[in-house]
Amino acid sequence: MITRPRRLRRTPAIRNMTAETRLSPSMLIYPVFVREGHNIIEDIPAMPGQKRYSPDTLPRILECAAKSKIGGVLLFGIPEHKDECATSAYDENGVIQQAIRTAKREFPGLTVIGDVCMCEYTSHGHCGIIRDNDVDNDATLDVLARIALSQAQAGAEIVAPSDMMDGHTAAIRSALDSNGLTSTLIMSYAVKYASAFYGPFREAAGSAPAFGDRKTYQMDTRNSREAVKEALLDVDEGADIIIVKPGLAYLDVLQKVKAAVNVPVASYSVSGEYSMIKAAAERGWLDEKKVSYEAAVSMARAGADIIISYFALELAHSL
Ligand code: PBG
Repeated sequence: MITRPRRLRRTPAIRNMTAETRLSPSMLIYPVFVREGHNIIEDIPAMPGQKRYSPDTLPRILECAAKSKIGGVLLFGIPEHKDECATSAYDENGVIQQAIRTAKREFPGLTVIGDVCMCEYTSHGHCGIIRDNDVDNDATLDVLARIALSQAQAGAEIVAPSDMMDGHTAAIRSALDSNGLTSTLIMSYAVKYASAFYGPFREAAGSAPAFGDRKTYQMDTRNSREAVKEALLDVDEGADIIIVKPGLAYLDVLQKVKAAVNVPVASYSVSGEYSMIKAAAERGWLDEKKVSYEAAVSMARAGADIIISYFALELAHSL
């Protein structure tokens, strides 16, 4: 008798039972933009469907996030006041600190993650302190540690440094620990490429660099072994979760990083990935729901334990 492998695709129930990859709402993180002001909900033209909220209107979207049972929200602050040194990023009453406090007060069960970076808060739009027309890595570490500490003190359970400075995780860990915040987690953007896919985000957050680019501190698209090095360094410094960013165009990197580290790995499906699908769907060229699902599955298949996506609420709803 000849035995042969049988197809596993007979019925939807069997397909579900034998699927190698599963998505769940709990693995999704939804990024939210919070700007200074009152009673504001404004559209972001380059990201149709995404909005900027002021701290007082923020609960409206957080309620959707809490109801959808997603893993958490990643908050980005957009301040009124910008200066050379990003002082508004670590102001106790800054926009991000207000947002975090509001979120924890209104939805204590919703995990709140603060994006730790300087670019939304600096007048020059770079992610660090500028010296001789470039970002000064070591001078920036102190500021990042202050920002992370202020977010943790406001109630963020997780801080997510997205600056790409060497040594940021160690600097933040030591600031948190020496202030008694030993259980605050660090989700490090350890592997972040200098990507044109961030275009819509820079409009959303008003964080485009006023001169030059981010290629001296973000990664070179052509490299992936370097990604493993960056990830291992951050794990060594105490990162609890590692982010690989962007998502779709870097699935090979995600797979390599996942194989190399022993902490959860997140894939950040960035603004450009969202806007591409939205734009094609608006024209009737793609099915938004199916394509966004397929993209998310591909990240999980490549090894993502967590997916950060602007489609998080819709995905959670359809799962
Ligand atoms: C801040 C930051 C950026 C993104 C997340 N954090 C922008 C950048 O590095 O220019 C991009 C997110 C997205 O495109 O969705 N450093």
